[in-house]
Amino acid sequence: MRVVILGSGRGSNAGAILKAQAENRLGRAKVVQIFADKPDAGILALGAQHGVASAFLDAAPFKTKLEGEGEARYIAAIEACAPDLVVLAGFMRVIKPGFLNAFAGKIINLHPSLLPSFPGLDGIGQAFRRGVKITGCTVHYVTAEVDGGPILDQAAVRIEKADTLESLAEKVHTAEHALLPAVIARLSEGNG
Ligand code: GAR
Repeated sequence: MRVVILGSGRGSNAGAILKAQAENRLGRAKVVQIFADKPDAGILALGAQHGVASAFLDAAPFKTKLEGEGEARYIAAIEACAPDLVVLAGFMRVIKPGFLNAFAGKIINLHPSLLPSFPGLDGIGQAFRRGVKITGCTVHYVTAEVDGGPILDQAAVRIEKADTLESLAEKVHTAEHALLPAVIARLSEGNG
């Protein structure tokens, strides 16, 4: 299963996927390419460290969505990778129908809350400020509804009284780093 990862930031989840691959915990999946929409994204250095082709791909003209010329660039570059799965690992853009149709049923996203609670930006902060006692992370198929596609799996994280936003973020990220590679491995074995 050929996997393309898209990210915007530090890439700790891409790192977890690449670590799982190095440790033979990624099933029949193989990461073939990483793209980032920011030239200085940590995810690019991480990919290079692991010997995976990694490149900045300009998503302009828009800042928070993938549409127009940027979308066309992403579709062409990803199609050239012949992916079986496109993983959004901290790719901070809303995906539009052109991209969805190009890779129909093949795009999954990681979100830092137990969807359908706290969709959108800052899922960890939203849960922390709302005072819920349990939050977590979700891996789901991407559809036209933002953070609304069919859920593949979730992991729960308890918010303790002593937790700060920082300690909670760390716990959610730790849960993400286990969940996302496990879901990819399962998908690669045909168990969605
Ligand atoms: C992750 O926490 C992921 O859930 C979140 O961005 C972070 C990326 O971290 N994604 C979203 O909020 C998507 N709406 P990383 O760059 O260290 O993998």
